[in-house]
Amino acid sequence: MKKDIDWKNLGFGYIKTDYRFISNYKDGKWDEGTISTDDTVTMSECACVLQYAQTCFEGLKAYTTVDNKLVCFRPDLNAERMMQSCERLEMPVYPKEKFIEAVIKTVKANEDFVPPYGTGATLYIRPYMFGSNAVIGVKPANEYQFRIFTTPVGPYFKGGAKAITIRVPDFDRAAPLGTGHVKAGLNYAMSLHAIVDAHKQGYDENLYLDSATRTKIEETGGANIIFVTKDNKIVTPKSKTILPSITRRSLMYVAQHYLNLEVEEREIFYPEIKEFKECALCGTAAVLSPVGKIVNHGDETVFNYENETGEITAKLYDTLTGIQMGRIEAPEGWIQEIK
Ligand code: PLP
Ligand code: COI
Repeated sequence: MKKDIDWKNLGFGYIKTDYRFISNYKDGKWDEGTISTDDTVTMSECACVLQYAQTCFEGLKAYTTVDNKLVCFRPDLNAERMMQSCERLEMPVYPKEKFIEAVIKTVKANEDFVPPYGTGATLYIRPYMFGSNAVIGVKPANEYQFRIFTTPVGPYFKGGAKAITIRVPDFDRAAPLGTGHVKAGLNYAMSLHAIVDAHKQGYDENLYLDSATRTKIEETGGANIIFVTKDNKIVTPKSKTILPSITRRSLMYVAQHYLNLEVEEREIFYPEIKEFKECALCGTAAVLSPVGKIVNHGDETVFNYENETGEITAKLYDTLTGIQMGRIEAPEGWIQEIK
């Protein structure tokens, strides 16, 4: 039976669910893994993750479709991206097929927490891995834990569908040859001060520029960014230091193949944003959140929408969420059935 949760009023917060997946890596191999009710982690005070932040994570969602199936969206791409994160952080990869299997098992076990169709809420799935044994000289751990928990969520940004305001901070996110392209916990640790400061100043998110030249648009703390030109082309930054968002890659495909729009992945120099007519943030948590204003130290770029979101942004949003919720036929391999 579904849990007694006010699905329609959920924000993006943590609610403990009943089960999580846990697998341990020791002596050069992963164990079989198990579903557990224990939401706590016990490890050495000197664990590599605690001292040197050796951890990475993923984020995807499970949906109840219009015909009451339980599905998740492109878990194969999360598995692959996590493998890339692990390689960059000298962690053992968790095999792709086992990752997908573990996601399915965890969601199935927490079926009662998957928000019903039509509530606007979804089940957020958080796979993650960390170095768990004691390490004091700077080197990788040799024991790891891979876990997946789930939590029902609503909109990432307060106010739901309202267009947000973002600002260019006085901080960088990713070094040119750093870890910006992988989902390392450390990328988020270094963004905490910037996001607290942004919120204090009344902004919803930080828009980072490329740290080498501070002239090009990169992405925000937790999402990629897309723009729409006056002639309805979708433009998104091409950069080696941003996270390859699965939502963004899917939206580019949707724009081309479902909406017949041109798409461009290229460098975007800051002044060009003034010429765009729509802007939105995209990611698993953000889905596709319209941006109403970008502030860069006194310089303001405003996007005017009739209904809080751009016309093309709304079409992209409806098509992507339609595919995720089973209202629109999905491209081959995008939807993983769970139940
Ligand atoms: N960029 C950053 C920095 C993120 O944290 C996320 C969230 O996962 C994204 C982009 C969006 O990626 P995805 O669409 O794969 O969730
Ligand atoms: C996601 O969208 O899954 C993320 O990991 C972003 C995070 C800021 C919640």
